[in-house]
Amino acid sequence: MPQGVNRFMQWWRFLHPSALVFTLKTSSQALIDKARQAPPRTVQATRFVAEHARSGDPLSVLQTLDRFAREERWLMSVGPDKGPLIAELAERVPPDARVLELGSYCGYSAVMMASTLGPQANIISVDIDATAIECARQNVEMAGLSSQVTFIQGPSSRIVSTLTGHFDLVFLDHWKDLYKDDLQTIEERGLIGSGSIVVADNVGEIFAPQKFLEYVRNCGLYDCEHRRATIEYTQVPDAVEIAVYRSAPVESKSQAAPNDTSPAA
Ligand SMILES: C[S@@+](CC[C@H](N)C(=O)[O-])C[C@H]1O[C@@H](n2cnc3c(N)ncnc32)[C@H](O)[C@@H]1O
Repeated sequence: MPQGVNRFMQWWRFLHPSALVFTLKTSSQALIDKARQAPPRTVQATRFVAEHARSGDPLSVLQTLDRFAREERWLMSVGPDKGPLIAELAERVPPDARVLELGSYCGYSAVMMASTLGPQANIISVDIDATAIECARQNVEMAGLSSQVTFIQGPSSRIVSTLTGHFDLVFLDHWKDLYKDDLQTIEERGLIGSGSIVVADNVGEIFAPQKFLEYVRNCGLYDCEHRRATIEYTQVPDAVEIAVYRSAPVESKSQAAPNDTSPAA
């Protein structure tokens, strides 16, 4: 699949009854912006933060982005409902954790992770979109967390293949079709090891990155947990996959039990 493939390519999934109101609302917002030749959503949100958030206050930056997403334009940020999950993961990694995030967007998840993990943690956040990277950088700076986050612009597959060292946490939140290939590159480069946690957002039936889910659940390298969630700022069902890298690979499930494709507990 080529890099930069549109997240909404499988548009028909958004006609699912549970997603219809969401689809109508976001489509009409996009049409209005197009007709008005409005700046990109990331720029609008970042201007809103500059105007309304308190400088040096991560919570204020997150709440201001939430307000923009609810009152102005929907944002594909991870959103407030997954805050407890991030806090839970923060308990499971060392204070000086190295984090790799694929998909920076407005910097919401970078602010959330940097503020939750604490000052010793270090996040590398990658995005293909130069405007998004600049907006994320500004929002992270507004939150007073610039020393903890390094942004890299470029397609994930190219950037991942230049990274070195060990990552305790990998947050996959870019285009869903790339999750599997990028994770395999991460493995091949030895960027994760025993105990590293891979978190993949938006793995519910709307986005349904099926190849990725089948891979992490059946390759024998991970203990997987499927958490139900909702698409950010909506009631539309979604899910997050948490895959913890095992100390030693076990026999692939597909070899051991070809018919068993159920998620690991
Ligand atoms: C869902 S948003 C990320 C949200 C962000 N993690 C947050 O919670 O605030 C997805 C982002 O992935 C980026 N993206 C899409 N394809 C990409 C690729 N091939 N490499 C890097 N970034 C990509 C998009 O530009 C977009 O900003």
